[in-house]
Amino acid sequence: MKISIIGLGYVGLSLSYLISQKYTTYAYDIDSDKVEKLKKDIPSSLNNEVNQFLNQRKLDLKISNNIVDCLKNSTFVVIAVPTNYDTITNNFNTDIVEKVIKNVIKVEQNASIIIKSTIPIGFTEKIINDVGKNNIYFSPEFLRESKALQDNLYPSRIIIGDRTEKSETFAEILKECSNSRNAKIIYMKSKEAEATKLFSNAFLAMRVSFFNELDSFSEVNNLNSKKIIEGVSSDPRIGNYYNNPSFGYGGYCLPKDTQQLLNNYNNIPNNIISGVVRANKTRKEFITQSILKKKPSIVGVYRLIMKSGSDNFRESAIIDVIDELIKNGIEVIVYEPLISLKIKFPYKITHKIEDLKKIPDLIIANRFSEEIKHLQEKLYTRDIFQEN
Ligand SMILES: NC(=O)c1ccc[n+]([C@@H]2O[C@H](COP(=O)([O-])OP(=O)(O)OC[C@H]3O[C@@H](n4cnc5c(N)ncnc54)[C@H](O)[C@@H]3O)[C@@H](O)[C@H]2O)c1
Repeated sequence: MKISIIGLGYVGLSLSYLISQKYTTYAYDIDSDKVEKLKKDIPSSLNNEVNQFLNQRKLDLKISNNIVDCLKNSTFVVIAVPTNYDTITNNFNTDIVEKVIKNVIKVEQNASIIIKSTIPIGFTEKIINDVGKNNIYFSPEFLRESKALQDNLYPSRIIIGDRTEKSETFAEILKECSNSRNAKIIYMKSKEAEATKLFSNAFLAMRVSFFNELDSFSEVNNLNSKKIIEGVSSDPRIGNYYNNPSFGYGGYCLPKDTQQLLNNYNNIPNNIISGVVRANKTRKEFITQSILKKKPSIVGVYRLIMKSGSDNFRESAIIDVIDELIKNGIEVIVYEPLISLKIKFPYKITHKIEDLKKIPDLIIANRFSEEIKHLQEKLYTRDIFQEN
């Protein structure tokens, strides 16, 4: 059986490694530079875990920049392309997913299509009607930032919209390729699977926002946030995890998925979902105000990444904070080794950590690191537990 994967970002690449342990897998990405790089090397974000993984397993994986080669004779085609949030339509832009689906139908009419990209609730039903083809399934992906392969090897659950012979086969493939023989498979309607993905991320965003708001309260009242969080989280119903304050939730998925869910509510009464979206904005404003109260003339920023170990800074909360600081006339210098010094930003970028040392007033960090231990006196962070 041949399986093809379209889109080799965080989701597509980790699925390619996972599935090619046991199945002939062809993987395609429109970005030919990326394809060439992938043929030579593993991306740094996946390096540690993947190096170990690749040393232990033999993969049947062909990375290609020829989509027809990739799709031809495939039994399953997995789609993992971007679905960015469009602020004009207030919806995910699903154009790329739709284009890929139409392409698959042209090349391999009988292939079953598995959508791994996050899509609006109702998308699968709509596309099935539009293209007149039944075997299109949504299977949500639940990956943590910088833990993509690990989360595919040890899935918390495998969810697939609609129960047919084909969807059962695919769910079993995911389970068979994982290291969890007892991985739970849940079948549901496509709309329910789409909703499950968005509600899962909305819950995570709500949890982050809750502890962030607790932290804002503590900061204003000069209370020990750490003690309160420990006290609250010791209740097993609440749990002592995923409770570390930050400048706000961010990353590629939580901001856009919460916005999309809110849009899917349409006229359905709600307070929590709209509140989660608002709470994140409020938190970033609160953090900005806390920084401004310190009256710095220059602010040094330690990293733009959301989490330690991450290789990207998509939708990082700290970027919004920086934008607000600049609007307030503050000069900002960012230490971020992942950014090319050739790109122009409204702030100065440095690759030298020593440059932060020279900053007289204030350094801010969404996540602490041993690298800035010596700068602690000037540091403003809400990374209370020093973990991601
Ligand atoms: N990153 C996550 O942790 C995560 C988790 C769950 C779901 N998702 C969802 O999965 C989807 C992909 O996310 P990602 O983080 O892997 O994105 P990504 O941006 O890292 O990767 C997407 C890849 O698709 C490629 N691509 C774009 N257009 C293409 C086309 N027409 N044909 C082939 N390839 C194309 C891009 O070059 C890129 O390599 C999104 O819908 C996202 O919301 C992401």
